[in-house]
Amino acid sequence: MTKLLWVPFLRCVAAVGLYLGAASMSPFALAGDASAGSDVFKTECSECHSVKEGRNKKGPSLFGIVGRNAGTAPNYKYSDALLQAKWVWTTDKLHSYLSQPAKQANPGTKMKYDGLTDSKQLDDLISYLGTIH
Ligand code: HEC
Repeated sequence: MTKLLWVPFLRCVAAVGLYLGAASMSPFALAGDASAGSDVFKTECSECHSVKEGRNKKGPSLFGIVGRNAGTAPNYKYSDALLQAKWVWTTDKLHSYLSQPAKQANPGTKMKYDGLTDSKQLDDLISYLGTIH
């Protein structure tokens, strides 16, 4: 009889353990999901950007964008505003730039984009961009 009671009890302990384990892992989940980010790129950015090296569309190629100096894709005619931007596209910089209208992040830019307000999509997108090298 006691044995019959133990089994569900242990199952319950295991379930709580799994739950707590998953909860304690969640900070890592916040780092972003690159495969979901690839879909975000398709809907939000691919109209104007390619991730292929050297392939400029309305906007410059985003190949290797994480770690790249602003305004340095070969054979792309940038606005003066972006040419004068002296920053490096770190993940933090991309995060703040893409979370607001481009015209606000870099006044005078010719990138017409209103920003991505969904922070999960933004994290996923930036993780994806980090895989393009
Ligand atoms: C409507 C077209 C358009 C859309 C949509 C767009 N961009 Fe752009 N993007 C541009 C243009 C044009 C430039 C060049 C800006 C300049 O020269 O001022 C640019 C520049 C950039 C740069 C700077 C590149 C460099 O070499 O310094 C980054 C980074 C960037 N875009 C990322 C993105 C991402 C990520 C998305 C999607 C969330 C996106 N853009 C959506 C048109 C667009």
